[in-house]
Amino acid sequence: MGHAIVPGSFDPVTFGHLDIIQRASTIFDRVTVAVVANRAKAPLFSIEERTEMLREVCSDLGNVAIGSFEGLLVEYARECGATVIVRGLRAVSDFEYELQMAHMNRHLSPDVETVFMMTGTEHSYLSSSIVKEIARLGGSVEGLVPKSVRERLRQKVAQ
Ligand code: PNS
Repeated sequence: MGHAIVPGSFDPVTFGHLDIIQRASTIFDRVTVAVVANRAKAPLFSIEERTEMLREVCSDLGNVAIGSFEGLLVEYARECGATVIVRGLRAVSDFEYELQMAHMNRHLSPDVETVFMMTGTEHSYLSSSIVKEIARLGGSVEGLVPKSVRERLRQKVAQ
């Protein structure tokens, strides 16, 4: 089924992201997880930290590579040779933004197709923002992010 790209901020990667990456890796021959270096959002983790965490948690997925990009996603997809963008949908509230992005990416690069996957119900309430807020306020993020990410979050909020 070719080469797909799973783009995102991954600040940090959650079990919801991992679910999409794992499922994409069973459908596509190759998957590139593409971490955006989006300065506008002022991420908690640096681009290096975010890619490192993804490498750790995806190490058992043989056909998954981790990359990062600045600029347009469709340009990065073209550089990688990926023809599919995979995005996870949690709820109807995600849809409007995702629809806009999919149309715009198709306008920019008609050769790249966007495919949506529904996140598992157990992850439908999960977001990196909420995980960061819980961690900042001293709550437990067990079951929401992998153990290695939990540890990094703990260190980060203690700084
Ligand atoms: O995890 P996120 O923050 O929802 O991911 C958003 C992302 C990275 C997919 C999106 O912001 C993106 O593609 N940014 C790259 C810039 C770009 O290509 N913009 C035009 C697409 S409409």
